[in-house]
Amino acid sequence: MKRISLTQYLVEQQREYGLIPGQLRLLIEVVARACKRIAIAVNKGALGDVLGTAGTANVQGEVQKKLDVISNEVLIEANEWGGHLAAMASEEMDSIHVVPNRYPQGEYMLLFDPLDGSSNIDVNVSIGTIFSVLRKIGHGRGVTEEDFLQPGKQQAAAGYCVYGPQTTLVLTVGNGVAMFTLDRETGSWLLTQHETTIPEDTNEFAINMSNMRHWAPPVKRYIGECLAGSEGPRGKDFNMRWVASMVADVHRILTRGGIFIYPADLKDPSKAGRLRLMYEANPMAFLVEQAGGAATTGRSRLMEVTPSQLHQRVPVFLGSREEVAEAVRYHHAHDNAQG
Ligand code: F6P
Ligand code: MN
Repeated sequence: MKRISLTQYLVEQQREYGLIPGQLRLLIEVVARACKRIAIAVNKGALGDVLGTAGTANVQGEVQKKLDVISNEVLIEANEWGGHLAAMASEEMDSIHVVPNRYPQGEYMLLFDPLDGSSNIDVNVSIGTIFSVLRKIGHGRGVTEEDFLQPGKQQAAAGYCVYGPQTTLVLTVGNGVAMFTLDRETGSWLLTQHETTIPEDTNEFAINMSNMRHWAPPVKRYIGECLAGSEGPRGKDFNMRWVASMVADVHRILTRGGIFIYPADLKDPSKAGRLRLMYEANPMAFLVEQAGGAATTGRSRLMEVTPSQLHQRVPVFLGSREEVAEAVRYHHAHDNAQG
């Protein structure tokens, strides 16, 4: 079977729909190439001396793994010189990285979580890279952190790469979701799925149950009623999966449906959930919506949230449309009962 490459896909999307101007195509190809390099490093594991901690902490106070640092460097280096970007932001960097003056400045801004699911690196479980693309606002060379604070609905593209049994790149430019698999013999990304649709209904949820006692009442009730199964108010039995790498959990949901939840919890009320809005929740929300699913904070659409900080956190409920709507109903019922 003749499969088309990522490059051909991008060229055809531009030709047919005008969705991928030259700079955006270069950006996506550069990110895909960087992901290939990260995949090689991930694969080497102990042989490449890439496991374990780097001995540093990121802006959120999380211990950085060697591969977090390596992946961040790979993405920065790959994207700096092409003339397609004005600036980058990353989970692993406190503030934005403006493209140095020696390079031309492009129209886009790139945000990424260079290596998502860090706790799974050393145990050889799927991990990934998540990215989001915004357009630079305004003219002139200056870029500030504020320029990044755009709601997710303004994303020009988003995607992730999952380093699992297969290395898969999942992409949207606002015209559905395409999946590419890395052919390790030729080094090419080949289109393996050009339309992705999340089933509307599901009986599979993904949440870290160990936090149950910290959840807010509507989340407790929603999961409680899922757990009650066919004898409970939901009238059906649920299955549960939790990889603890958002990329892997979302990839499963894009493939066979489900609902993924990382709610805000009362363990640390200063944090609005665990996941970061701009480079975890928003790109996944864009992909999930483009595949016919839904992505909310539990109360409203994720991609409508106007960010106030680069590294802000947000509660996340995403996946099969009907099930996400169900979880939202629990929140509204709770809010209405509170008057
Ligand atoms: O990036 C944060 C992250 O590692 C996600 O990939 C994952 O979904 C979540 O945190 C895992 O959280 P926990 O440690 O609570 O299982
Ligand atoms: Mn992450």
